[in-house]
Amino acid sequence: MKPWGGRFKGKTDPLLERFSASIDYDQALYRYDIEGSKAHTEMLNRIGVLTKEEMKDIAAALDEIQKEIEMGIFTFSSSLEDIHMHIEARLIEKTGEAGKKLHTGRSRNDQVSLDTRMYLKDQLKRVEESLMGLLKGLLQKAEKEKETIMPGYTHMQKAQVVTFSHYLMAYYYMFKRDRERLQNILRGIDVMPLGSGALAGSTMPLDRDFVRKKLGFARVSENSMDSVSDRDFVVDAIYGAAMAMMHMSRLSEDLIIFSSNEAAFVALPDALCTGSSLMPHKKNPDALELIRGKASRVISDLFSIFTILKGLPMTYNRDLQEDKEPLFHAIETVKESLAVMTLCIAGMKADRKRMERAVRESYMPAVEMAEYLTLKGVPFREAHGIVGRLVRDCEEKGKPFKNLTITTLKKFSPLFEKDVFASIDPQAILKNRKTEGAASFKEVERQINAEKVYCNR
Ligand code: ARG
Repeated sequence: MKPWGGRFKGKTDPLLERFSASIDYDQALYRYDIEGSKAHTEMLNRIGVLTKEEMKDIAAALDEIQKEIEMGIFTFSSSLEDIHMHIEARLIEKTGEAGKKLHTGRSRNDQVSLDTRMYLKDQLKRVEESLMGLLKGLLQKAEKEKETIMPGYTHMQKAQVVTFSHYLMAYYYMFKRDRERLQNILRGIDVMPLGSGALAGSTMPLDRDFVRKKLGFARVSENSMDSVSDRDFVVDAIYGAAMAMMHMSRLSEDLIIFSSNEAAFVALPDALCTGSSLMPHKKNPDALELIRGKASRVISDLFSIFTILKGLPMTYNRDLQEDKEPLFHAIETVKESLAVMTLCIAGMKADRKRMERAVRESYMPAVEMAEYLTLKGVPFREAHGIVGRLVRDCEEKGKPFKNLTITTLKKFSPLFEKDVFASIDPQAILKNRKTEGAASFKEVERQINAEKVYCNR
């Protein structure tokens, strides 16, 4: 007999039972469901619905059920649909009359919202911890590579000299935003929906604030209809995960290029690469490729939840049950990817010589050469043209900047003096950049020191 079986004459079609069951995946909510039921039980005792005796029986039985689930001896069956019905049915088996009172003033509609919010409060903290791990890893690497110079790219073309440290800090700030985003999202999740019932609240004198305090929520939901139909917090959580995945995917893409045979700026640790079944020499960056691939599936999770919600009338509709698979998938994937990414960052080795050579074999100091002329009063647009013509000339003659003589330079502008060579030296450039946030030794040092404080507090 199903808990809702009263008004039905016939049996549910077994096909529908299987079709509508969510137990295969929503059993992940069991701990939160039990904790929520315990708080509800205590509240029912306070308002006189349950005797002290009944309250104790229920709490003890819920503990037993938790153990049964954790020991793997709990029987799941699709005829009981979801985790809420499984736990309640088992509770009634164990406690009889007392267990039958547990669902007073409660619906699975507010219960599932509560469970999902509790799950997210717990899980997003773990995601946040993993993000902190990655932040610390990036910061450590950045500190180690403070002196390492490398080309900075736009359009995948060498653009201006930077340090590897500055590059790593760029990702550091991306992931720091992800962490702050999660903290904001957590504030939106911290709302206690129980007491909203199926959609309209209850004539029972439920003490919602007691349950809120018991479960450690910041506030209770304002509107019972909104409470049970709202999944904005699920969208937010998946969005937070998708954003972090997108960032990891970009970093993966970079590191795949940087570890290619052509660039060979970094070597990835053996432990995070795999070989080929045919080509004996291969070492493939699979971990990074998988992060890049998995990012697309988490982004799809975000599409899924949006499209589940966009056509739903007030209030609860069974479509909402479909929120869990994308949500769980997004959270699990971002957690695992962060752990793998952190290992990649810690284990990769920078080839400082190759990075430096890539800087020296380039016309990247053209910018600083134009700025040299600008500092001598040449309008920038004109200086840009002069240096542009110089680069074209060098390219045609196959001559790198470092072989330029002052005689050649003077042909392009009489304002060039010998000191121009000092100002286009990569080291000098990294010393001379003056703007806040610039790729300069000083600014990167400042960022690292400030962020050490952030990471250790
Ligand atoms: N398993 C359902 C879900 O995840 C719980 C709520 C079911 N409510 C209902 N009226 N059928 O959404």
